[in-house]
Amino acid sequence: MKKTTFAALAGIAAVSIALTGCGRAETPAETAAEGGETAAAAGGFAADATIGVALPDRTSENWVLAGDLFTNGLEEAGFTGNVQYAGSSNSVGDQQQQIQSMISAGAEVIIVGAADTNQLATQLEAADAADITVIAYDRLIQNSELVDYYVAFDNYHVGELQAQSLLDGLEERFGDQEAWNIELFSGSADDSNSAVFFDGAMSVLQPKIDDGTLTVVSEQTSVQQTATEDWAAENAQNRMDTILQNSYQGEDLHGVLSPNDNLARAILTSVQNDGRDVPVVTGQDSEVESVQSIVAGDQYSTIYKDTRALVAAAIEMAQALQAGEEPTTTATSDNGAVEVPANLLEPVIVTQANAAEAYADNEDLAPLTEQ
Ligand code: BGC
Repeated sequence: MKKTTFAALAGIAAVSIALTGCGRAETPAETAAEGGETAAAAGGFAADATIGVALPDRTSENWVLAGDLFTNGLEEAGFTGNVQYAGSSNSVGDQQQQIQSMISAGAEVIIVGAADTNQLATQLEAADAADITVIAYDRLIQNSELVDYYVAFDNYHVGELQAQSLLDGLEERFGDQEAWNIELFSGSADDSNSAVFFDGAMSVLQPKIDDGTLTVVSEQTSVQQTATEDWAAENAQNRMDTILQNSYQGEDLHGVLSPNDNLARAILTSVQNDGRDVPVVTGQDSEVESVQSIVAGDQYSTIYKDTRALVAAAIEMAQALQAGEEPTTTATSDNGAVEVPANLLEPVIVTQANAAEAYADNEDLAPLTEQ
């Protein structure tokens, strides 16, 4: 939190104590969440200030898209953009160093898509000491009071939508059966989104497991057991191979909850290598190859989180801060230490049935849906 902003907020808190006469002031997050009067960030900063963007390694296409969109969008907004990716072999160390360089170079705002959402404490302290505002992008940095804002799609809802589409797909493709065998995959444990996607999905699936509609034949149903280290496709493929080997001799596999497209394709490869029919597999990110697979009737669903909208929302936050205004937020997100004021966008579920409509305004994806 910028000190100037904090001073303004502390002032409002003091007024709030005086007015209510009770000892507990509203936190800035509460004030923002109520959509009432928001605290004005005092001052702002130069219109051509440096805005740092620290992105993780390119584990999915959305990250690849985000880099160019940030570079162009920040330039169009008049800022001096400094967009960096962590490499894949030492992503955490790379990112820590990149953020430190952005701080030393005098950035006013740093937008962070964390490589590891638990390992940025030192960098957040340094940013705070330099009055830099930190915006967590897509992944919520955990257990720190020094995350000022969060901009993301509603990731719990992503999980709910994935699970509902799994059930819909099972009914559509295997509606003649009374019960279905499924397997569950989650993302990398160092990404706080992984548990959020999984919890959202399990809120829909657990009742169906409990009533016997769904059977997880491997019995691996916790986020730890289902994790995919580094979001790496080969890890998902290996785990699927092992599960088929150990738990599916003589059994059909009807569906798989996959947290994203890259892993969905790896899971489909494993199942096809085993000579099986295509199960219902979910996904996320609307990656080109997965959209093609959905249109062809293989992968069942994906999630559309329009990266253009998310990058635009992050840049809007920086513009508000530049103007000395409080950025628009729609919710708060608990990072274990504090409720972070958040702007959460709506994800969209996409299947073969609505792909053309969902991607109609996306010039890269729309042509893929033309039969
Ligand atoms: C993002 C997903 C992405 C995954 C792997 C998550 O934090 O929200 O869109 O598929 O990381 O890159």
